Amino acid sequence: MTQEDLELVLSHYPANKKDGLLPILQEIQLHNGYLTDELLAKVGAYLGIPANKVYGVATFYDQFRFHPHGQYHIRVCRGTACHLVGSSTFVEEIEKQLKVTAGNTSKDRKYSLEITNCMGACESSPIVQINETFHTRVNAGDLDKIIRTLKEKTE
Ligand code: FES
Repeated sequence: MTQEDLELVLSHYPANKKDGLLPILQEIQLHNGYLTDELLAKVGAYLGIPANKVYGVATFYDQFRFHPHGQYHIRVCRGTACHLVGSSTFVEEIEKQLKVTAGNTSKDRKYSLEITNCMGACESSPIVQINETFHTRVNAGDLDKIIRTLKEKTE
């Protein structure tokens, strides 16, 4: 994110008003894809909030990311309905097979893995989302196929 882009975002909010923090962080993430220490420090300076406090707020909320997504961003729902029908094992399988840990992006930037709360479609649980595509009622065999397809696409 350029300094110009950041200034444009900040211009939507008054300086030194702490209640602008969350919407500013959300808007920055929307533009940049993720937050960085440098961006957090600049937001803090603009709002008059110490950088460590800005960092504390940003890390408190699950919605904020500190790594760029991979080429394929994988979201596994671990809401109650999905968890009850096996989604918890999906995370381990994806981590093992694609060498990415939950909440992070693989070293080669091919995959990122996120565990989410309920995606709002429990009747179709368990759900795995790859970029914009939702896979519903996923079973172990489906997951194997999804992982195989991802590997083929990124070879
Ligand atoms: S718990 Fe997964 S969609 Fe509701």
